[in-house]
Amino acid sequence: MSLLELDGVKVHFPVKKGIFFDRTVGHVYAVDGVSLSVAPGQTYGLVGESGCGKTTLGRAILRLVDITAGDVVFDGTDLAKLPDEEMRRFRRRLQMVFQDPLGSLNPRQNIESILSEGMAAHGIGADQEERRGRIQQILTKVGLPTNALSRYPHEFSGGQRQRIGIARALVLEPDVIICDEPVSALDVSIQAQVINLLEELQESMGLTYVVIAHDLAVVRHISDVVGVMYLGSLVEEAASDTLYAEPKHPYTRALMSAVPVPDPAVEDSRERILLTGDLPSPANPPTGCRFHTRCPWKQEKLCATERPELKDLGGGHKVACHYAAEIAAGTVQRRGDGSAAALALTPAAPD
Ligand SMILES: Nc1ncnc2c1ncn2[C@@H]1O[C@H](COP(=O)(O)OP(=O)(O)O)[C@@H](O)[C@H]1O
Ligand SMILES: [Mg+2]
Repeated sequence: MSLLELDGVKVHFPVKKGIFFDRTVGHVYAVDGVSLSVAPGQTYGLVGESGCGKTTLGRAILRLVDITAGDVVFDGTDLAKLPDEEMRRFRRRLQMVFQDPLGSLNPRQNIESILSEGMAAHGIGADQEERRGRIQQILTKVGLPTNALSRYPHEFSGGQRQRIGIARALVLEPDVIICDEPVSALDVSIQAQVINLLEELQESMGLTYVVIAHDLAVVRHISDVVGVMYLGSLVEEAASDTLYAEPKHPYTRALMSAVPVPDPAVEDSRERILLTGDLPSPANPPTGCRFHTRCPWKQEKLCATERPELKDLGGGHKVACHYAAEIAAGTVQRRGDGSAAALALTPAAPD
């Protein structure tokens, strides 16, 4: 059973040229065919490099951007095809928490005003008195003093401001919260507090999360399932423990190998995979597997010509790689590594 289900979601932004910006000369394939599902009360962690389309996907779920193709089914209703007036009824139930709390909080509004704005718009609370009571409860829940009501955003620390951002979502009593890089702007020492708070709130309020981060470490413990994005699509998805224990896609392996391990013995002996080349532009993505231009295991032909589907390799561990099984078995050659050369299917093309 899923509360939120995406099926083949695409968001292509037109690139306009000409004096009146009326000529479409191409598209940015920001999100290019993402399917995933989130069960009620669970957390889906979405990770990937900056620019791979995470925020755009989050915005597509809330329909804050036009969806080019695909379905966003929330609680049985396809939001992608809903007329705007009907979408309004669903807006309250899906909320977003942003990376930069200060940028998303109006500096001239006090906290009561910021938090009651959305409530009034959605008809929550009979009057301001009732709304204030509700806000006070939520402020306590997120660990802020109730005297915060009459204060302004600049009077709070970064961590507190993120708590205000979370409270602003919570007062609307949502079912799903999309947390877009919720701790990226915070000191490392504060990050764990905010992640722990999100977990407590999920438990006590029965919330469903999509947590977006460029940092693998951030989503690891809070997520039930983690999806790894590269240039607009998912390259791997698995239960959080499985993904971190046995990443199968070359891109995920490379991301993981960049995270330091505290144990020096392990740190010295573990596999390191360095990605060569820059992240290609989503306006001009590579043919075939989008990762083939940077993949250390790239094989001739297939990788550059055929786009691999996200396939379940067993137990819900999904990978979009033509050679995932062979790489795991060590039977395809990795470029720049003679040792794993047991049974190369086809020699890697020199580049
Ligand atoms: N409104 C927009 N118009 C055109 N291009 C956009 C727009 N929003 C995002 N993009 C582009 O889409 C790609 C994905 O961006 P984004 O979703 O912000 O990635 P992420 O959140 O993973 O860093 C980027 O190349 C970005 O420049
Ligand atoms: Mg982003």
